Amino acid sequence: MQDQNILSRIQQIDGLETLQLQDAVVKLAELATAEARAHTTPQEQRLFLQRWYGNDPGYFWLTFSKVRSKAPRESVWSKFGLLQMLKGPANEYIQWGMLSQEPKEGFDLLREYFDTLVTNATDEHRYLLVRFLWESRNEGIKSTISENWLKKASPDIKRVLGQNFNEFSRHAEHLLKVWKAQVETSSEKSALAHEHVDLSLPGVQRRIGSHHLIRQVLQEIEDIFFSIGFSVVEGPEIETPYYNFEALNIPEFHPVRDDMDTFYLDLPKGAPTPLLLRTHTSPMQIRTMEKQKPPVRVIVPGKVYRRDNPDATHSFIFHQVEGLAVDSDITFCDFTGTIEYFVKQFFGPGVKTRFRPSYFPFTEPSVEFDVSCIFCGGSGSAASGGTCSKCKGAGWIELFGAGMVDPAVYGFVNYDAKKVSGFAFGMGVDRLAMLKYQIDDIQVFFQNDVRFLPQFP
Ligand code: PHE
Repeated sequence: MQDQNILSRIQQIDGLETLQLQDAVVKLAELATAEARAHTTPQEQRLFLQRWYGNDPGYFWLTFSKVRSKAPRESVWSKFGLLQMLKGPANEYIQWGMLSQEPKEGFDLLREYFDTLVTNATDEHRYLLVRFLWESRNEGIKSTISENWLKKASPDIKRVLGQNFNEFSRHAEHLLKVWKAQVETSSEKSALAHEHVDLSLPGVQRRIGSHHLIRQVLQEIEDIFFSIGFSVVEGPEIETPYYNFEALNIPEFHPVRDDMDTFYLDLPKGAPTPLLLRTHTSPMQIRTMEKQKPPVRVIVPGKVYRRDNPDATHSFIFHQVEGLAVDSDITFCDFTGTIEYFVKQFFGPGVKTRFRPSYFPFTEPSVEFDVSCIFCGGSGSAASGGTCSKCKGAGWIELFGAGMVDPAVYGFVNYDAKKVSGFAFGMGVDRLAMLKYQIDDIQVFFQNDVRFLPQFP
């Protein structure tokens, strides 16, 4: 058969279904066996072995790698005729030796054949297959020789035959052993080449995340109040009007409700109570006092919602920290002292503070608390001349609302207004963060632009 035909048969394996694989390989095995049988001179045998089992072009190995890529599992190789293809010539040579008067001739052929195989077992898979060919109990060359040839030989040649066989076995096993080391180092080398690690290459850079600035500021605020005996509680962002308004002494038609542009939830008809997104953290004053008897000292960090149009100083969602302290003997001095302590801790000892009268239905008296402008140092004029744009020349910046808890509120939580007193405050965290870190647009807190966030690692 023309070499070209053999090659195209091997090529066709790629397009075959698994079921057709065996036929194709068995056909090739038959071709190889026929050629082994047909060649007579040692010269011709050598060329034949090179073409099929050597590397020029090595029909067997080409077939082997194609079958392997279709059927990677070792256990099925022999099923697909590979072993038949591999062993075909061996059977011929054994046959030859049996028929000849001189057993050595058969062993010479076997040796040539086996050497070709082993020296072309250039990777682990090939090597394992060749070793299997040698030592397999049922199908191996070794057992075939001893079962089919040695055992059946006539007593007069058995001794010579045995010697030849031993010699061949020793040779084959020695060769396999030497080659094993060879294959191992070469596959190690190729693995090393694969897995070579170049330490000079730039690594995968993973950005390290950080807490959002608002989270960091909340933490700062919490730490300061922790240090003076407050604890942290949190509450629901969806509230009832009772907690958001009524219990805070803001009855249904009170005008301040108009200021609080509230988000009400769409509820199914017949819902027991309307629900809304809390407009401030003050409802937690009520919830805390309902749960616990005085003394109370808590702060409440959290998100609040108002129907504001977004601009540099307004957002429909923002953060507050509510504070509440109620006990039997809390005075206005405790109140101012606490607030001032906080502000100086937060902004530094240099800031000045002031209270202005204000109005909240749930505090009496109520105040607005101001700090001297962080940007112009309270002078009201900018470093570049002209008025300070942050405080608009006032020298003061409004920080938060606060006051002494209105006795009416105690009525809603069953506290005895004659025995207890306290103060409450509610500060805008976003505003504090903007002042402290000189940020002039509240929207950056919610846009989460990564160019902004890493500036506060
Ligand atoms: N809840 C008020 C607001 O959001 C602030 C405040 C809290 C005022 C506590 C007084 C006492 O504007």
